[in-house]
Amino acid sequence: MCGIVGYIGKKNSASKFVLSGLQSLEYRGYDSAGIALLSKKPQVIKQVGRVEGLANQVTDEKADSHIGIGHTRWATHGSPTMLNAHPHYNTDQTVFVVHNGIIENYQELRERLVSEGYSFVSETDTEVVPHLIDFYLRKHKNFFTAFGLAIKDLEGAYAIAAIYDKEPETIYVARLSSPLVIGVGKDEHFIASDATALMDRTKKVIYLDDYEIAAITSDNVSVHNIKEAVEVKRAAEELDYDHEKAELGDYPHFMLKEIHEAPQTIQAAIRGRVRADTNTIKLGGLEAVSQQLKYIDRIVIVACGTSFYAGLVGEYLIEEIAGIPVEVQLASEFKYRKEPFSRSTALIAISQSGETADTIAAIKKVENYGVLTLGVVNAVGSTIARITDAGVYCHAGHEQSVASTKAFIAQVTVLTEIALHLSEGRTPLYKPVLQELLELPDKAKQVLENAPEIEKLAKKYSSYRDFLYLGRNYAYPCALEGSLKLKELSYIHAEGYAAGEMKHGPLAMIDKDFPTFAIACDSELMEKTISNIQEIKARKGPVLAIATEGNKKVSQHADDVIYVPSTLEQLQPLLVCIVLQLFAYYVAVEKGYNVDRPRNLAKSVTVE
Ligand code: F6R
Repeated sequence: MCGIVGYIGKKNSASKFVLSGLQSLEYRGYDSAGIALLSKKPQVIKQVGRVEGLANQVTDEKADSHIGIGHTRWATHGSPTMLNAHPHYNTDQTVFVVHNGIIENYQELRERLVSEGYSFVSETDTEVVPHLIDFYLRKHKNFFTAFGLAIKDLEGAYAIAAIYDKEPETIYVARLSSPLVIGVGKDEHFIASDATALMDRTKKVIYLDDYEIAAITSDNVSVHNIKEAVEVKRAAEELDYDHEKAELGDYPHFMLKEIHEAPQTIQAAIRGRVRADTNTIKLGGLEAVSQQLKYIDRIVIVACGTSFYAGLVGEYLIEEIAGIPVEVQLASEFKYRKEPFSRSTALIAISQSGETADTIAAIKKVENYGVLTLGVVNAVGSTIARITDAGVYCHAGHEQSVASTKAFIAQVTVLTEIALHLSEGRTPLYKPVLQELLELPDKAKQVLENAPEIEKLAKKYSSYRDFLYLGRNYAYPCALEGSLKLKELSYIHAEGYAAGEMKHGPLAMIDKDFPTFAIACDSELMEKTISNIQEIKARKGPVLAIATEGNKKVSQHADDVIYVPSTLEQLQPLLVCIVLQLFAYYVAVEKGYNVDRPRNLAKSVTVE
């Protein structure tokens, strides 16, 4: 949700770094982009649309600078226009600011500044920041002081970078509830919303905490906490993973590539953790809290979107395998709920990006209750990975496409491991689930071999305006996730329902123009789902179903069937979801939409 990038160094190569950084952060927003450089005189270049268009405008190498900041925007306040694009600046065009987040009190600040004679050109919340800095600068004549005072006035969430024409040796940054990382190079520093944007240049990073501001020159970073008014000593940390630059290879879209990575994703999530010879699970990330885990009698899972649906699969898994009661809550609701907690509750936060504002707020909410917090996170070193007491990384690698696919597969794999770990081997399911998990990479490969068939069916069903997804038990969260994938990529209205709920309302919608995607793999409840399919057929609703290979019953009722290899019901979501992801992908491609960059969305939702 907006990406910010900056460079300060001894080389005149700011625009090169900023533009390539923005390109790798484009998943955070792609409405408009802009860059500010301080060469002989300040230059601000903006573009509505993609970073590529901005890069085409920044072609004058002689005009490059040793200092620059850039931004790729996901519009919150004001539509994507040149005037609303960042960087924003003061009237004299000496102070330039990029911002990620939401300044909640911007109306009040704007009114205050207007009454002081300031005028505004954009509809954004961000534009108050350069004017506010300007306001304090006139009083205090010192930029760092003015910057700190302006930041103190802001309420909401922000990662901010500012440069000042009269101090072209320094980038000023601030952070509150939005990610910001400083990369340490030789005679140069980089800033970015996400470490992936600077990992090509350095593995040494400094993370800023909430209420911290920093003045960054080419060879120094000085950090202050503005709440406590103290200087903070912060050593650089080494990033402990290799970042593979996202390359499309032979795939037309990142989403298709990432779905096809499912077998390796499952493999990476179980490698070194699941041991077939000894039937053991080793989750290194939970070792430090193993004593506390023994006393946990309630688990609350918090997450958003696709990660929330992975959490729902986790609920079924942990309850059935480990016998611990689990509740899954939307992080955005959980953070405002007034519910009781005890010290024997553990909170599991699930997040691909590790930067989702609502999920971070949910973790912070329980900080004072002595609740053990665990992260199931993909992005290494992200905020959620750092603020939780312990956790298990997903190891899915960088997910580029906005719609989460391989991360969901990794999350469900990790939650299966956590369920097995918590059960301490006390359930008869322990050994079969553990052994079968090791077979899943091969079975996922078999599902992917069916892609041409899924593509054919996606074309057949792509012209409907509505879709119902149905499932029971483990297939229910899959139905919810399948419907989310379809709506976010193809803009088709889709709803996920527990199949048992059909007769309590949704059946009323069914007619020949309202198809159903029924998940009816072999399980104790399959016959009941088949009854639901019959009820839909009796009302002329078209039915596409997923069934287990070799099953003869589902095809007697459904119009079309996609088969997946036989596996334990507890592990079916890992195969079923590949089908649902491919189906949504092919429908969106058929409709001619940008599958990797669905309209109105951004990958990392760092605002409420
Ligand atoms: C949907 C999707 C979103 C994310 C949600 C949470 O395909 O990607 O629903 O799952 O925004 O994001 P993370 O997992 O980064 O916390």
